[in-house]
Amino acid sequence: MKNLSSLNKHVDVALAERSYRIEIGPEASQILAAMLQSLKAKGRRVTVIADAGLLSAQADFFSQHGVDSGSVISVPQGEASKSIEQFARLLSELAQRALGRDSVLLAAGGGVCGDLAGFVAASYLRGIDFYQIPTTLLAMVDSSVGGKTGINLPEGKNLVGAFWQPKGVFILPALLETLPAREFAAGVAEVIKYGMLCDIALFEKLEQLPHLAADDERWCEIIARCCELKATIVSADERETAGSGGRALLNLGHTFAHAIEQVSGYGTYLHGEAVAIGLSLATRMAIKNDNLDPAIQARVDSLLQRYHLPIQLSAPLDTDSLISAMCKDKKNLAGKLRLISMQSLGQAYVTDQISEPLIRILWQDAGAA
Ligand code: GLY
Repeated sequence: MKNLSSLNKHVDVALAERSYRIEIGPEASQILAAMLQSLKAKGRRVTVIADAGLLSAQADFFSQHGVDSGSVISVPQGEASKSIEQFARLLSELAQRALGRDSVLLAAGGGVCGDLAGFVAASYLRGIDFYQIPTTLLAMVDSSVGGKTGINLPEGKNLVGAFWQPKGVFILPALLETLPAREFAAGVAEVIKYGMLCDIALFEKLEQLPHLAADDERWCEIIARCCELKATIVSADERETAGSGGRALLNLGHTFAHAIEQVSGYGTYLHGEAVAIGLSLATRMAIKNDNLDPAIQARVDSLLQRYHLPIQLSAPLDTDSLISAMCKDKKNLAGKLRLISMQSLGQAYVTDQISEPLIRILWQDAGAA
C-alpha cells in the first residue's frame, strides 16, 4: 500500500499577526474537518461561498466536512461573477442570515470564487475571518495565497478590492481530478510562471518530467513548491509596494494576459490561457530587450504546449486596443508602462524601459492585427 503521508506538506506564510498556514495533501481534508469542528464548538457560525461547479462535481464535500447544506451559498462559475452585482448579493445574504463579527467564511472554488468571497469577507462588518479552499490548480498555486481579493469593473480587471489575508488555506490536490481538462491546463501556466520568474530548478524539473495528468501524485510537491515561492515573495512585500522586484514579479506575462482577456472579452480565454500567451510574449520581449538567450523561447513554448496551452492568439485582436488596455495596468507608475522581464530564465525583474514600438512588434508576432 502506498504511503500517502509523504504527500502531505505545509507552508507557513509569515506576516506577523496575519500569518497563516497552507495545508497541502490528502490530510488537509481531516485538518479542515477538525478546524470546522473546533469553530463550531466555539459557537462560531461558518458560511461557505462555493463555486457552482464544485457543488455539482463534489455534492457531498461540505456535508462530509460537517457543514450543513443551508450554510452553503453558490456562486455561478466564470469571470462574470467577479462583479459588483454578485458582491452586493453575497453581502445581503450574509446580512439576512444575521451573521455576526465572529462568523467565518469559507471560500471554496477557483480564483473567481476565492477573490469574490475574500472581498466579501474583507468588507462585511468591516472584515470577518475567512479560509480558502482552492479547487483549481491556478487557485492552489496562486490566487488563494497572499490575500489579494477583489472584483472587476466594466473598465478593467481587479480594479476594486482589498488586501485581506485568509486565516488558513486547505489544498486538496484530489479535487483536481474532477476539474475540466482545460481549467487544469490553465493552472499549469501559473506553475510554469514560477519557474520562469524565480526558480530555474522548478522549470527544469517540469521540462524533464513528462506531461503530468491531474491525478498524478507529483502535483502535491509541485504545488507545495509554488506555495513556498509565493509565501516568500508575499511575506517580503505583502502590498506590492517594493520599489523593485517583490510581489510585482508574480505578474510575469500578466500585463499581456490581462490585455488579451479585456480585449477579447472575459471568458474567451481562461486566465491561465491568456497567461500562457503572456509568458511566451514576455520571453520574446526579454530576448529582444535583455539579451536573453534566444534558445529559451523554444524551451518556454514547448513546455507550455506540452500542457496544451496556447502561445499565440487564436484569432487576431486589435493591436491598439491591446496596447491601450496595457496602459491601464495597475503596476504602471507616473504614466509609464511597467512590465516584468527576465535577465535570465529563473530571474525576473521589473522594467519601465520597454518601448511602444517593441510592444507593437511583440503583439504582431503573437497574431494581433
Ligand atoms: N497573483 C499575483 C499576486 O498574488 O500578487
